[in-house]
Amino acid sequence: MKKEQVVNCQFSVWYPIFKKHTIKSLILPLPQNVIDYLLDDGTLVVSGSDHNTEQTHTNNRDPESEEDIQWSDDETTTTVTAPEFPEFTSKVLEAINSLGGRVFPKLNWSAPRDANWIALNSSLQCHNLSDIFLLFKSSDFITHDLTQPFLQCSDQDSPDPVISYELVLRKWSELIPGGEFRCFVKENKLIAVSQRDYTQYYQHILKQEEQISHAIQEFFSQHIQYNFLDEDFVFDVYRDSQGRVWLIDVNPFGEVTDSLLFSWEELVSSGEIAQQQVRGSRVFCSTGFIGHWTVSVSHGVCAVRAQEGPAFRYTTSEVTVQPSPCLSYRIPRDFVDLSTGEDAYKLLDFLKLKKSQQEDSDEQEVDEEGENAPQ
Ligand SMILES: Nc1ncnc2c1ncn2[C@@H]1O[C@H](COP(=O)(O)OP(=O)(O)OP(=O)(O)O)[C@@H](O)[C@H]1O
Ligand SMILES: [Mg+2]
Repeated sequence: MKKEQVVNCQFSVWYPIFKKHTIKSLILPLPQNVIDYLLDDGTLVVSGSDHNTEQTHTNNRDPESEEDIQWSDDETTTTVTAPEFPEFTSKVLEAINSLGGRVFPKLNWSAPRDANWIALNSSLQCHNLSDIFLLFKSSDFITHDLTQPFLQCSDQDSPDPVISYELVLRKWSELIPGGEFRCFVKENKLIAVSQRDYTQYYQHILKQEEQISHAIQEFFSQHIQYNFLDEDFVFDVYRDSQGRVWLIDVNPFGEVTDSLLFSWEELVSSGEIAQQQVRGSRVFCSTGFIGHWTVSVSHGVCAVRAQEGPAFRYTTSEVTVQPSPCLSYRIPRDFVDLSTGEDAYKLLDFLKLKKSQQEDSDEQEVDEEGENAPQ
């Protein structure tokens, strides 16, 4: 994967080409002071208002700039007023309103999918800039976009292209995960399609595999093929309840993109995609032909191939449902509830527990003092 391929997969590059086939979106240039704020690794405490966002810093700041700082009890922690971006804030609010008041935010390539647990609604749905900042500042995927977008490129010797960072606001859409598929294109040919949410079994995919694969191939040949700037790329689609296919995203053809039920080895290899190997230790065994389709099922993953068409893989009921891929980014739910005060009973239990622990340790201290007291 070359740096140029990554550049071509930026939202602002592909959106104008495929505008008619994707969710309505607006692109706002990200000012440098907002980028600096996003990269500042202080802990963010969101107040709920777009103008009074407070931030707690634990890093060492310039002692000259302390006017706004109130020192707290803990000597290493300072509370400072978060910077304000009035002009940018009003542009963002205007954009959100024109998209119906609820948006899905992204940067040039990534959405903060690894941070949805931190949002009060446990979702990427945002209503204002504070919602967006909370997600962006908590996301490693966003930091990756800002700091090392070309990390996995093969042409490391060439200079990094200059990137203009952008905030992408997409109209919020209720997408059903079972309707999402990832499509791999090599040399302008659709070679593979994978269920996107591969950790779950969706009965309708099993029942409608032929229609789904056919609809995606038709969408590709009519609207995508030869229209993109590269001949190798990955695109994500959504098939809605009426069977209409929509473009969701375009991603680089390489390791930086999750290969889901395929492996990058098989996707880049020059031969036909073997039915033999998929993600980890899963092995396919061919079970025969259904019309002009070759179907293989093994260990909960089904691979279907229309002759001449792409390999199509999805999870069947045999699989043990796996945890969500972003789970490892989370902290325990109790911690979130306590820190946000979301669950008042949990907070009360926690305070009671703390109080009784304190009383226990006070009693112990008195006992110990008693023991050590001179006879
Ligand atoms: N406009 C939208 N409204 C609601 N949900 C959305 C919207 N766009 C995308 N999503 C959901 O968010 C998920 C991630 O979106 P997207 O593919 O744009 O993020 P990404 O960071 O590029 O992901 P990846 O790293 O897998 O390429 C999608 O699979 C979809 O479920
Ligand atoms: Mg993507």
